Amino acid sequence: MVASKLAPAGTPSGEAGPTGSDGDKVTVDAAGTDATTEASDTKSNPPGEEGKHVKFEHVPMPADAMLARSDRFLRLMNLRRSVRFFDSKKLIPDGVLERCIMTAGTAPSGAHIQPWTFVVVKSQAKKDAIRALIEAKEAENYAGRMQAQWVGHVRGLVDAMHGTAAGEAVRKPYLSEAPALVCVMMHRSTPSSPVYYGMESVGIATGMLISALQNVGLCTLTSTPLGADAEIRKVLGRPEKEKVFVVMPVGFASEGCTVPYRSEKELRKSQKKVMVEA
Ligand SMILES: Cc1cc2nc3c(=O)[nH]c(=O)nc-3n(C[C@H](O)[C@H](O)[C@H](O)COP(=O)(O)O)c2cc1C
Repeated sequence: MVASKLAPAGTPSGEAGPTGSDGDKVTVDAAGTDATTEASDTKSNPPGEEGKHVKFEHVPMPADAMLARSDRFLRLMNLRRSVRFFDSKKLIPDGVLERCIMTAGTAPSGAHIQPWTFVVVKSQAKKDAIRALIEAKEAENYAGRMQAQWVGHVRGLVDAMHGTAAGEAVRKPYLSEAPALVCVMMHRSTPSSPVYYGMESVGIATGMLISALQNVGLCTLTSTPLGADAEIRKVLGRPEKEKVFVVMPVGFASEGCTVPYRSEKELRKSQKKVMVEA
């Protein structure tokens, strides 16, 4: 397990992070080991105990640390926006994306099948090919495959972001401009290799990837293959048993990057709406 040997990442300790939706400056500590991560570092069990339950060592945190950390993590995650404009020249430091993917791979999964493969695409030719495939499918969607209402919901966003006037082809520059695409592949269930709760498991792993990227100041966008699954799989050279679940461009926002405007009220649903007690 690499967790305790991570190089420092994120904004250095004490340095102000980006500004949140509420205008607060968020301070992000340098990643480092602390008592809790050290103690909780997952170790594989020694041989000889297969099929048994073994002791799990859990080190609880003091209540004030729990509150402080949960608040800090909320503030960090609340800064996340889907980014569609990337700086193609700013590369991801070595080892960072790999660790974020390993973090995603710590996700729970039905029967611990871990039905995922994270394919990292850095080749410009492959990114261009994937972009062309998805743009072509998107054009078909706009031409009528998807409900008019859905198109109505996203069209405004897309037009505003990529300068596509109504009737023009949709452009998805983020698929070729981000320094890396992470194609999250979901393993299909077969009689010889059954997968249980594949969608749920890969969805959770993808969420953990998004959180891990946010934790190190990397930007991403959740985008779907839009029906170009089989063609993208061929570009990636992956087996038929893998389905493209999402295609995540990853990198740093470009200097002029914009995101769709949201008022404070629109940005996130209130706690009252999100959480109820029963
Ligand atoms: C499953 C899923 C699919 C999405 N597909 C697209 C997409 O194809 N294109 C796009 O521009 N945004 C896509 N998004 C991003 C959403 O539009 C975005 O998350 C939402 O508007 C909220 O904005 P935020 O992420 O900035 O908070 C997708 C998000 C999810 C979760």
